[in-house]
Amino acid sequence: MDSRTVALIRTTFKAVAAEEGGPERLARSFYAILFSEYPQVRDFFPAAMDSQRDRLVKAIGYALDRLEEPNKLLPFLAQLGRDHRKYGVQAEHYVAVATSLKTAMRRFAGTEMWTDEVERAWDEGLTVISETMMGAAEKEVTPAVWSGRVLENRLVLRNLAIVRLQLDQPMQYAAGQYMSVQIPSRPRMWRYLSPAVPANANGEIEFHVRGVLGGWVSPAIVGQTQVGDQWLIGSPLGGLGVPRNTKRKMLMVGCGTGIAPLRAQLMQMALRRTNPKVHLFVGGHHPCDLYDLETLSKLAMANRWLTVTPVSESDENPWWHYEAGEVERIWPGLEPRMTGQIGKVVASYGPWADRDVQIVGSPSMVQTTKFRLMASGTQTKNIRHDPLF
Ligand SMILES: Cc1cc2nc3c(=O)[nH]c(=O)nc-3n(C[C@H](O)[C@H](O)[C@H](O)COP(=O)(O)OP(=O)(O)OC[C@H]3O[C@@H](n4cnc5c(N)ncnc54)[C@H](O)[C@@H]3O)c2cc1C
Ligand code: HEM
Repeated sequence: MDSRTVALIRTTFKAVAAEEGGPERLARSFYAILFSEYPQVRDFFPAAMDSQRDRLVKAIGYALDRLEEPNKLLPFLAQLGRDHRKYGVQAEHYVAVATSLKTAMRRFAGTEMWTDEVERAWDEGLTVISETMMGAAEKEVTPAVWSGRVLENRLVLRNLAIVRLQLDQPMQYAAGQYMSVQIPSRPRMWRYLSPAVPANANGEIEFHVRGVLGGWVSPAIVGQTQVGDQWLIGSPLGGLGVPRNTKRKMLMVGCGTGIAPLRAQLMQMALRRTNPKVHLFVGGHHPCDLYDLETLSKLAMANRWLTVTPVSESDENPWWHYEAGEVERIWPGLEPRMTGQIGKVVASYGPWADRDVQIVGSPSMVQTTKFRLMASGTQTKNIRHDPLF
């Protein structure tokens, strides 16, 4: 795709995104057009479209922004296409989505900005996206969806559960990837979760889930998951993973359940003969939020290449944790716990200029940490994280 075409798409998309409430209004308008012009696609989507309604539109924006980086974009789209098999999406649905997005964009842009050339550029961009997704889906031979039976739901904090499942068949995923999951009580509300263990031939999988206040799905997982429940799990997604290069040192930063994909990678690395030095910073609001230190202590004790520094924003635990009578434990093999904002703490240990960096956590945590690291000399190209939607 030539650079003028890319520039035209980017300029029109950015013009909409820059408006007050632009992306949200674009998403609303896109869905209104999609559901009225193509009512047959309504059933793919959840009944309530109030939360996460802009994920699809954000993903298309993310893809359009990377049309000039095919080596990053095409694998991302191929993964999404394979994952979208879980919805039963067909070619005509891609036409519906592309046409609706274009119509919504045209309305926003107005006749002055939306020239014939802009229209052609959008056609070209959306065709690349749709064809890459459809092509990957067609070629794929793995199941469109896996079924997982819950073996255990263990509450490790008041609002955080470790859920272990048995898949109906093993899934090949790279440690560090995530997948989209649907629980029986929340039909069509797929949410991303990251396995905390590497793929294994027995098809066992483990997720760490924090119940988000007011959330549709996560509180139901934490509070209502029963042994025997059947979950649906889509194809693996994401570009994090154990690097092949065993010489380049690594820095991992994970907050809350963000530790899960990092832990899976460390477990995978522990099976290799040689590994680079890895420094992991694991963060949480309170000391008690660092729920997985026991596993990290075992990993650090067994693997000399690994250094683990726990970090909490506050030095105190919340009142409900004191009531539970817990005393902070000192875990062997771990560095002393630091107190402070995680990005600041990590940057203070720098410079990390020579490291391959991975950051996992909430979008705001990822962005702040990335900013801190860049400010202290880490190059953007060395920092990896999942797309923030
Ligand atoms: C790549 C990726 C991997 C993920 N892996 C995990 C994982 O391993 N474990 C895990 O527990 N979660 C993980 N998440 C988050 C998860 O996918 C859901 O977004 C989260 O559980 C909230 O879903 P919900 O249905 O409960 O909330 P929703 O009903 O979707 O949202 C309700 C409200 O809460 C807000 N909200 C959503 N998420 C958060 C949050 N984290 N903190 C504060 N407010 C929030 C929303 O903006 C909205 O206003 C991951 C997300 C991504 C993008
Ligand atoms: C054009 C390219 C498309 C891109 C880049 C894209 C991307 C995404 C992304 C990233 C999500 C968020 C979570 C997830 O993966 O489940 C999503 C959700 C979804 N997509 Fe797509 N998608 C595309 C096309 C389609 C098509 C053609 C359909 C079928 C009509 C579709 C149906 C859905 C549905 C039903 C959801 C769930 C929405 C929700 O939970 O609110 N997508 N899409």
